[in-house]
Amino acid sequence: MNKIGIFYGSTGGSTMAIVEEIEFNLKNKDYQVINVKDGIKEISNFSNLILVTPTYGVGELQDDWNNQISELKKIDFTNKTIGIVGLGNQRAFGESFVSGMRILYDIIQEKGGNIVSPTSILGYSYQDTQAIENNKFIGLVLDETNQEDQTPERIQDWINDILKYFS
Ligand SMILES: Cc1cc2nc3c(=O)[nH]c(=O)nc-3n(C[C@H](O)[C@H](O)[C@H](O)COP(=O)(O)O)c2cc1C
Repeated sequence: MNKIGIFYGSTGGSTMAIVEEIEFNLKNKDYQVINVKDGIKEISNFSNLILVTPTYGVGELQDDWNNQISELKKIDFTNKTIGIVGLGNQRAFGESFVSGMRILYDIIQEKGGNIVSPTSILGYSYQDTQAIENNKFIGLVLDETNQEDQTPERIQDWINDILKYFS
């Protein structure tokens, strides 16, 4: 399997901890972790990608991701397989739960990327989200404030699934 690139942005540190848990589940796979505050040009080097972002503002991307939007739009995602992981808070931000994921999703779709591993919307409680397509979440959805106890199993299941798509 080709090397997996894991790109993340984190303001409060929760996403950084999630990336460590993703790494734990990748076990002996070849991967590289990159904080997007250091830039995202290296995305071009990977055919297998995991992109991780919390939602901030009202349904917006995390700041370091936001700063990379114009760079992101320049990347050719054809022949790349991508999984998106979103962190959010379904109680405090139930009107825009993990909606930041949609911003990454739309850009990558537009640039020809193959976004894989959607997940079930069951087991979450919120009013609205932009992160659903065909009745599924567009990636892995985690809530470290309200459902931290479910995170390890959600990550494990999702990593097992996405590894089937990576080449
Ligand atoms: C100012 C602010 C705005 C937020 N807006 C949203 C939101 O619109 N939707 C959502 O699901 N979560 C929202 N959240 C929750 C964060 O996404 C969540 O706490 C996340 O785990 C933070 O990740 P980090 O610690 O890596 O920065 C917001 C949090 C803050 C502090």
